[in-house]
Amino acid sequence: MIKSFFNALNQPLGRVGVLIVFLALLSGAVWGIAQTQKTPQQPIDFPHNIHVGVLKIPCLYCHPGALRGPSPGLPTITKCWGCHQQLDITKTSPKLVPLVQAVQNNTPLQWVPVMWIPDFVHFVHRPHIAAGLNCETCHGDVSKMTVYQTPQVINMGWCLNCHRSKTEDNAQNNPTNDPAVAASLAEERIKLTDCSTCHY
Ligand code: HEC
Ligand code: HEC
Ligand code: HEC
Ligand code: HEC
Ligand code: HEC
Repeated sequence: MIKSFFNALNQPLGRVGVLIVFLALLSGAVWGIAQTQKTPQQPIDFPHNIHVGVLKIPCLYCHPGALRGPSPGLPTITKCWGCHQQLDITKTSPKLVPLVQAVQNNTPLQWVPVMWIPDFVHFVHRPHIAAGLNCETCHGDVSKMTVYQTPQVINMGWCLNCHRSKTEDNAQNNPTNDPAVAASLAEERIKLTDCSTCHY
């Protein structure tokens, strides 16, 4: 039985069949990966472009924890309502119906996380902001986005590439070629590429 099955596979038609099954599996896998990279449906099509690009509301107004807390956090309906209860558009815009309903029922809006790394990795915003990095360096030009979309693949190589480039002894990091700066860059590099800095 099994033997005749393999014999059949060796026939031209059998080979085509194998190819079709293979292609079907491959396209399934590609589709599955594409799904995990796709921006999910959010409870509201929140327009970062209007709030950041047009209204110039600072990121930290809605994500204050990026500076102080363990994580930036997402705004609650109270924060949205602080502005939106006074705006005419809140009564007229179909896009804001979920917000009005959430306020009436006193239920939170369930934003779907897009930008996240696994629990076994240690990441905090504070040292990155303190080192003078802009939100845009890692999050892209949010002022042109509606709901947030990650501009790059977030993996270990992404973290390490930046940690290496920030600590290389080169003209950018050490313009005066100072041996003391070179020494501290080397020390920093060891720390920032040490497994236990990000995994413990
Ligand atoms: C600092 C004030 C402020 C805060 C906070 C704020 N908004 Fe807005 N929002 C506005 C203004 C002003 C507009 C533009 C109104 C207009 O175009 O006339 C707007 C527009 C919008 C629109 C577009 C509506 C449309 O029909 O185009 C949506 C959706 C929206 N806000 C959702 C939210 C949500 C959800 C929150 C909370 C996470 C929030 N906003 C927080 C002030 C604010
Ligand atoms: C060095 C790169 C980097 C910089 C700079 C950075 N972020 Fe992030 N951000 C990340 C990473 C990585 C995550 C995922 C963290 C996690 O899953 O624990 C994240 C997650 C977030 C989240 C979602 C997490 C949550 O609490 O729900 C928000 C919101 C955010 N960042 C806002 C900001 C803001 C605002 C700034 C600027 C003040 C900023 N980030 C600067 C890398 C960065
Ligand atoms: C008026 C409030 C508001 C402002 C201002 C704002 N955001 Fe957001 N942000 C939100 C809301 C609401 C979400 C959840 C919906 C979504 O994913 O887009 C969000 C989502 C995000 C996420 C993904 C969070 C996650 O859990 O995956 C990042 C990263 C982010 N914002 C960064 C920024 C940066 C950087 C700025 C400034 C350039 C900024 N935001 C300004 C309200 C705001
Ligand atoms: C765009 C550049 C950049 C990216 C991307 C980046 N980092 Fe950093 N990271 C820095 C800089 C700069 C510092 C601050 C170095 C200092 O002040 O000692 C830092 C500091 C840290 C620290 C604190 C080290 C300490 O003990 O002082 C940790 C932990 C860390 N990063 C983890 C991560 C992880 C995890 C990722 C990826 C998810 C990541 N970083 C992505 C630039 C970056
Ligand atoms: C700058 C931060 C950082 C440093 C330093 C770091 N890692 Fe990672 N590591 C990460 C991140 C972020 C992930 C999550 C990767 C992902 O989801 O693709 C990860 C994932 C992993 C995984 C899980 C397998 C995988 O690819 O998803 C292993 C194993 C690992 N790291 C081992 C190490 C070892 C060993 C070292 C030291 C040589 C190290 N890491 C140093 C940030 C770091």
